[in-house]
Amino acid sequence: MKVAIAGKGGSGKTTIAGTLARVFAQDDHRVLAIDSDPNPNLAVSLGIDAETAADIDPVPTSLSHHSEDAEGRYSVGLSMSPEEISARYGTQAPDGVTLLLVGRVEPHEAGVGCNCGAHRTVRGILEHLHQGDDFFIVTDMEAGLEHLKRGTLQHAKVLLIIVEPYFKSLEAAGRIAELGRNLGVPALYAVANKVQSQRDEVAIRDFCRSHDLPILAVVQLDPDVSEAERQGKAILDVAPGAKAVLAVRELARELLEEAAGRVDAAD
Ligand SMILES: Nc1ncnc2c1ncn2[C@@H]1O[C@H](COP(=O)(O)OP(=O)(O)OP(=O)(O)O)[C@@H](O)[C@H]1O
Ligand SMILES: [Mg+2]
Repeated sequence: MKVAIAGKGGSGKTTIAGTLARVFAQDDHRVLAIDSDPNPNLAVSLGIDAETAADIDPVPTSLSHHSEDAEGRYSVGLSMSPEEISARYGTQAPDGVTLLLVGRVEPHEAGVGCNCGAHRTVRGILEHLHQGDDFFIVTDMEAGLEHLKRGTLQHAKVLLIIVEPYFKSLEAAGRIAELGRNLGVPALYAVANKVQSQRDEVAIRDFCRSHDLPILAVVQLDPDVSEAERQGKAILDVAPGAKAVLAVRELARELLEEAAGRVDAAD
């Protein structure tokens, strides 16, 4: 299953992506986590220590190239197989998750141009990695819409849109959903995050209902997440029984049902 996680800035994409990847791995699935944010921090949410995270070699974007056929159809090739990329550039995270970093912007790159090579590389990995049904790819996206405009998520199978209970976050989710649909991503769901009250949940449910966006899970605003963040650690290592972790376990269960074609979202 190729899951990508998008949403407005700060909505909780990385926290949920890291926790979800580990929850899948704890359930004995093979998991590749891809950090495609130019300002990466998925390693922290996966529970990789700061020293190891600082030493990670990003996947070179020179490994991917694009071509267009006579009809103008764009496709991406890789000069190393995704399996080789994973073996060469992957970093081991707790519970057996492998992390790939794609597109980190380096300090010397100020003023040197766009980050399109990273988008192309993520797209190529998502397109060419086929490892069977028990293999999960969880891709943490940067905020904004560029990955949708560029087709970075062309080969994602599920797009999770993390949404907070406030107007601008919901509005962003609506735009992301529309773009995701137009890109042809087969399944789109919202995940409500940082919910504090019934009123919050109702606001998200009303919006998602009117935008035909099923909600796959509701994650409360959880002080344990804030504590993990203060410590620079993964929520699973600080408070494995936290409410937010239980909600992500529920999300994983729903996704497995979606993979089996039996999803029955609550709304
Ligand atoms: N359920 C939650 N309860 C409490 N705090 C949360 C929750 N989810 C996320 N946060 C906090 O919200 C902040 C942003 O989270 P995170 O970095 O995961 O968001 P993001 O969407 O990946 O951000 P960016 O757009 O910068 O990549 C962090 O401080 C995180 O600890
Ligand atoms: Mg993030």
